[in-house]
Amino acid sequence: MTNTQQTAVTVLGLGDMGQALVRAFLQGGVSTTVWNRTPGKDSELVAAGAVSAATPGAAVAAGGLVIAVLFDHASVHETLDPIAADLAGRQLINLTSTAPEQSRELARWASEHGIELLDGGIMAIPPMIGGPGSSILYSGSQPVFDAHRETLELLGTAEYFGADAGKAALWDFSLLASMYLMFGGFFQGAALAGSAGITASEFAARAVPWVTAMAQGLPAYAAAIDSGDYSAQVQHLAFQKAGLDAIVQSGRDAKIGVDLIAAFAGLVDRQVAAGHGQAAFARVIEEFR
Ligand SMILES: NC(=O)c1ccc[n+]([C@@H]2O[C@H](COP(=O)([O-])OP(=O)(O)OC[C@H]3O[C@@H](n4cnc5c(N)ncnc54)[C@H](OP(=O)(O)O)[C@@H]3O)[C@@H](O)[C@H]2O)c1
Repeated sequence: MTNTQQTAVTVLGLGDMGQALVRAFLQGGVSTTVWNRTPGKDSELVAAGAVSAATPGAAVAAGGLVIAVLFDHASVHETLDPIAADLAGRQLINLTSTAPEQSRELARWASEHGIELLDGGIMAIPPMIGGPGSSILYSGSQPVFDAHRETLELLGTAEYFGADAGKAALWDFSLLASMYLMFGGFFQGAALAGSAGITASEFAARAVPWVTAMAQGLPAYAAAIDSGDYSAQVQHLAFQKAGLDAIVQSGRDAKIGVDLIAAFAGLVDRQVAAGHGQAAFARVIEEFR
């Protein structure tokens, strides 16, 4: 019998992500108990083999590994605080997206109640769960990770980032920050293109290969940041400032909002004003530090 077959899990939270996790567990042959605040979201899962529990306490009483995949940090406490005594001596994984300090706070809370906590950041959207592109980052209790790794691999690639319960969330939110601003850049560009009647779909068809090609430059920026060597042969900050100023102006001319691109241009402006006009573009990271 494999570890997966031996493991039983309880999933608290049946939003889009919770349901995806449960489906992956059931497909992997894992005995799964489910609870959701609003009743009625478990019927398809129960038909597929899950056991429905009426309360968080009843769900946890089913035994096994407990996984919380709720809305936010507050909803995690709202759900778990009343059943802290039931969780004593148990293993808990929090897959709710929370800020690193919130994950650390949850780890302290868990420790005070004799609960072993592993925190996770899901780098996937629900349809990806259980598929080849799905990745989940974990940190916190290594014994929990080691004991359940095989089961967790049913959801996606499972990686452990150390005992600091906030570390996985830090990775998660750093990657999400890059993602959101990439999406924001797309919306900014689509609005500018749209001001001339170019559809967002037409724009996307060119934006995807362009952004993909430009992303290949990230390791070179990273090398400059890590070494602190911001000497530039080409495309220094003054060059970038001229380009950004013209992009902001084109947005104003087109009467579209330029808040996002102007904010970024402002960071470059400050570096140039501080005398770094001849430095490499990557030096703009100093504005975030
Ligand atoms: N969806 C994604 O693409 C994705 C990707 C990565 C990470 N995540 C993370 O996964 C977590 C769940 O996401 P989701 O997509 O499942 O969200 P969702 O569809 O909005 O579901 C939220 C879940 O949280 C429950 N909930 C909300 N407030 C609650 C409270 N005060 N007490 C108890 N339960 C409460 C909801 O219960 P009700 O049904 O009663 O409202 C529902 O089960 C989030 O932290 C999200 O950031 C999601």
